Amino acid sequence: MSKTLSVVGVQWGDEGKGKIVHLLSRKSKWIVRYQGGNNAGHTVVFGGKKYALHLVPSGILVPGKKAVIGNGVVVDPNALREEVRMLSRRGISVKGRLFVSPLAHVILPYHILLDVLREEGGRGIGTTRRGIGPCYEDKVARIGIRIVDFLEPDTFKALVDKVLKVREAELSRSMPIRKIRAEVFKGYDSLRRFLKPFVADTSNLLSRALEKKEKVLFEGGQGAMLDLDFGTYPFVTSSNTIAGGASAGAGVGAGHLNNVLGIMKAYTTRVGRGPFPTEKFGTVADYIRSEGKEYGTTTGRPRRIGWLDLVQLKLALQVSGATQIAMTKLDTLTRVHPLKVCVAYKLGKKKLTSYPPSRSAIYDVEPVYTSFPGFSGDISSCRKYSDLPKGARDYVQWIEAELGVPITIVSVGQDRDQTIVRNKKAVWL
Ligand code: GDP
Ligand code: IMO
Ligand code: MG
Repeated sequence: MSKTLSVVGVQWGDEGKGKIVHLLSRKSKWIVRYQGGNNAGHTVVFGGKKYALHLVPSGILVPGKKAVIGNGVVVDPNALREEVRMLSRRGISVKGRLFVSPLAHVILPYHILLDVLREEGGRGIGTTRRGIGPCYEDKVARIGIRIVDFLEPDTFKALVDKVLKVREAELSRSMPIRKIRAEVFKGYDSLRRFLKPFVADTSNLLSRALEKKEKVLFEGGQGAMLDLDFGTYPFVTSSNTIAGGASAGAGVGAGHLNNVLGIMKAYTTRVGRGPFPTEKFGTVADYIRSEGKEYGTTTGRPRRIGWLDLVQLKLALQVSGATQIAMTKLDTLTRVHPLKVCVAYKLGKKKLTSYPPSRSAIYDVEPVYTSFPGFSGDISSCRKYSDLPKGARDYVQWIEAELGVPITIVSVGQDRDQTIVRNKKAVWL
């Protein structure tokens, strides 16, 4: 059996990756983030407690596990310190088990400023305003600042001055550059001292772990439809969210990424702007939003709600290389009659069964639906697949057959224990 498992979202994020990663962390030694940053919000609920993690892998909540923030992640040092402090206040020490790549780029105050400026300047796509896009832009433009640079005061100063020059025209629209510079250096020494002990050659650590056949769990942020290449461009995040991103973003050979668990909700949600063919408004959408508590973990924004979309999912599973699926939030759909699933799109007289790359066509498609009677009753205490009502099983099995990928986990509640594992071997449990 493979020693790695990559957990990735196959919709527009917030599929429940945090819950599933935390559950599977018990059987893993390493849990690794490889892209994105604190735009992610991963919720974990167990033992009557709730945690929201943004940067630190969800496995940190399991004692003894080692957590890695890989080179492909963009790290806001302030946000990381906040999160480590939050964990420590709640009795979870990260000492000796959190490792951050020196090659990860840092998010600095001017990245956040640029993100906000653009969001408010009419070019917004509904970002999380955490500076993610501008930080990746600097990385690609080769003016980015990495953790290793952040740790060297002279290098850091010189690089900040350089980047502020390049971005001066845009930044100075909001406040004088000297104020921005002062903001960058506010508390710098203490942040540098905070970061230093966590910095380690993470690619090497993971390669050695894999040599020793230790289990490594990759925790994706966002979802395939927010992937920079395959998502609904330009309404996407600025990294490769698909499982393949883990090779470049953690420095592990692509050959290790052969066991991919795609996480999908039993319906669809999206936050931020952009096309969403199966989006619903009205009482059914409001009911699902309220039952599923569909408000953003990072920004608190109400999530847009829609039916499941097989055209979208087939693309996501294909580009993620998903070998299995976890379906979450099936419990939220109880008492929704009928349940609808989009099986194709109509574009004028044409029928589409694959997601169109055109940024205009995707707004014009009309979903073609298949309906299911649905199910009633509280399913959140079901622990065996056979405990589920027939209407729920029919829904799961029909989707599984259509997608051609086994649904190995069905999640029926927020808590770690509210989970039905259909194939324990595939998911290490
Ligand atoms: P992530 O970003 O993919 O980790 O997902 P989020 O944590 O942002 O959003 C998922 C939300 O659904 C969180 O509040 C989870 O606690 C919750 N959740 C996960 N799985 C289930 C489930 O099976 N049923 C219910 N009712 N809630 C779930
Ligand atoms: P998790 O890991 C849902 C969305 C934003 C916006 C777009 C770009 O919790 O699933 P960004 O700040 O990344 O530049 O915003 O991506 N977005 C997410 N949506 N879940 C997330 O993460 C997201 N991270 C970013 O809403 O539409
Ligand atoms: Mg989330």
